[in-house]
Amino acid sequence: MTPLLQISDLHAYYGKSHVLHGVNLQVGQGEIVSLLGRNGVGRSTTIKAAIGQVQARGSVRFKGEEMLGLKAFEIVRKGLGYVPENRDIFATLTVEQNLMLGEVAGRKSRWSFDDMYRMFPRLHERRHVPAGVLSGGEQQMLTLCRTLMGDPDLIMIDEPTEGLAPKVVALVAEYLDVLKSRGVSVLLVEQKLAIALEISQRVYVMGHGGIVFEGSPAQLRADSEVRKTWLEV
Ligand SMILES: Nc1ncnc2c1ncn2[C@@H]1O[C@H](COP(=O)(O)OP(=O)(O)OP(=O)(O)O)[C@@H](O)[C@H]1O
Ligand SMILES: [Mg+2]
Repeated sequence: MTPLLQISDLHAYYGKSHVLHGVNLQVGQGEIVSLLGRNGVGRSTTIKAAIGQVQARGSVRFKGEEMLGLKAFEIVRKGLGYVPENRDIFATLTVEQNLMLGEVAGRKSRWSFDDMYRMFPRLHERRHVPAGVLSGGEQQMLTLCRTLMGDPDLIMIDEPTEGLAPKVVALVAEYLDVLKSRGVSVLLVEQKLAIALEISQRVYVMGHGGIVFEGSPAQLRADSEVRKTWLEV
């Protein structure tokens, strides 16, 4: 079966700086896959290239169709969602207005506002409050929910747990499982190895612009060499 997302020989550039050197990775229908690695190895660049935000060459096939060369909004409309690491909410708009902005014209979503509020009751309580006054964790939830309102079939999430309290981290992990149960596949960029190993079916480790390990969480747990060389600091 062809994977839902297939990234092949992906190269990416910031001006003359060549930061991805042939990345290969796949996400199957219904999978949670994590992309791990130290700071600066190119994890964010990989997903930004896939969504058309960085100059790239190679191939990014989603549902069998080439994404490279399309505009970000066209890619989103095809059902490839992206949650950036910098929680870019609209601070002066309310929580609810932020959610509305996530809806994609012409795409009927499997998610309703009520689904979002049931998943994150805090957002319901604060639905009429300007998003700028939310805590970091709440803003992270809002960013995730806004992307879901566009009804992605696959969501790429960049470090959702960064800077969050342990309790909130556990909540995020729990909700990634809810997504999976609704048939949304996930490509998760994470720094926290424990979370990634716990919720993923497969993991990739990146080092210096390329994939250096691919396997199951159990295989990565057993491979202290890879962890020492590419993950631990
Ligand atoms: N806008 C940019 N212009 C120039 N170089 C960049 C830009 N963004 C990232 N880089 C460089 O590209 C490389 C990969 O960065 P990337 O953001 O993909 O790393 P990362 O793996 O997501 O790590 P982290 O999120 O911890 O920074 C780094 O060397 C980084 O300095
Ligand atoms: Mg990053």
